[in-house]
Amino acid sequence: MPEGVPEGSRGPILAHAPRDAENLRPMPPADGPFATRTIEEVAAFWDRRPCNVRHSLREPGTREYFDEVERRKYLVEPHIPAFAEFSRWRGKRVLEVGCGIGTDTMNFARNGARVTAVDISAASLSLARKRAEIFGIAEAIDFRLANAEDLGRHVPIEPYDLVYAFGVVHHTPNPKAAIRSMRAYMDDASVMKLMVYSRLSLKVLEIAASRLLDRPWEVDRHVAERSEAQTGCPVTYTYTRRTLARLLEGLTATRIFKTHVFPYVVADYVRHVHRLRPIFRAMGPRLFKRLESVAGWHLCVDARLAEGGPSAPCGNDAATSTESFQRTREERIP
Ligand SMILES: C[S@@+](CC[C@H](N)C(=O)[O-])C[C@H]1O[C@@H](n2cnc3c(N)ncnc32)[C@H](O)[C@@H]1O
Repeated sequence: MPEGVPEGSRGPILAHAPRDAENLRPMPPADGPFATRTIEEVAAFWDRRPCNVRHSLREPGTREYFDEVERRKYLVEPHIPAFAEFSRWRGKRVLEVGCGIGTDTMNFARNGARVTAVDISAASLSLARKRAEIFGIAEAIDFRLANAEDLGRHVPIEPYDLVYAFGVVHHTPNPKAAIRSMRAYMDDASVMKLMVYSRLSLKVLEIAASRLLDRPWEVDRHVAERSEAQTGCPVTYTYTRRTLARLLEGLTATRIFKTHVFPYVVADYVRHVHRLRPIFRAMGPRLFKRLESVAGWHLCVDARLAEGGPSAPCGNDAATSTESFQRTREERIP
């Protein structure tokens, strides 16, 4: 099993065998369920429906729309502000990878950080850019279309105080390449904050239980099919603490915690009515928090460069699934 691909993953292998950054020998072919997925498919998925784009029913792209998107995002994922520590990065440099439509990006910038925000989805970036303009903070944010697995191609390599990727690394075909590429933007003082999906979670359990008659052992396929608001995500890895530690090559985790159980009745939630499922209402907030810490869907980690760890490689040395993508998209980068 290659590093960066969680244990328990089955299926076909990476079309583009990644090379080991340290010695540039080809790594063994990946043995992950998303190995044949391409970065083009990932971009197309998020272009079709950028993340959280339906968090508001108002006119998309307006101030009211973005305000409502933000309110709903932090209602549904209330742990984000405390995890991101937006105000800690005032006057600092933040590299946000996989910014989506920019909800966290805006909050880093509003709190006085200088932000470089990248995403592989042009549609997401275009909304994020518009958002920054509407709120008058476009100057503080440098948006770029770039692949997390190969950032060096589009983002000059220099140290950032924070490298932040919330809900992103598990959606890229080669998560290990993404970590290597992001690590290049860190020095000894930098912090990396990541959220990846948790394998040992109520969400995975519920998805698996709902697919008992459809090759239930193909958990990864079922999870990817249902992990997002839009069905059929091409890549959704899930991690345990152990597989996460393996993914974080050259980094030392300083804090890891699990959180986030989605508590609402889905049929109501899609109509923007936030009614708790009876079991979670009955549980009360303390027990619910406890459940989130044990079986939450978000595995959050703070990390720093490991002492004496491998030196950060420069962008392109981890072979990626991006080269043809970059060639076809380069002209479209504004
Ligand atoms: C679940 S969304 C999260 C968006 C944002 N971080 C948030 O919390 O609202 C995942 C995002 O990661 C982006 N993404 C996935 N793979 C990527 C890659 N290899 N490089 C850059 N962005 C990527 C997607 O386009 C999408 O916008």
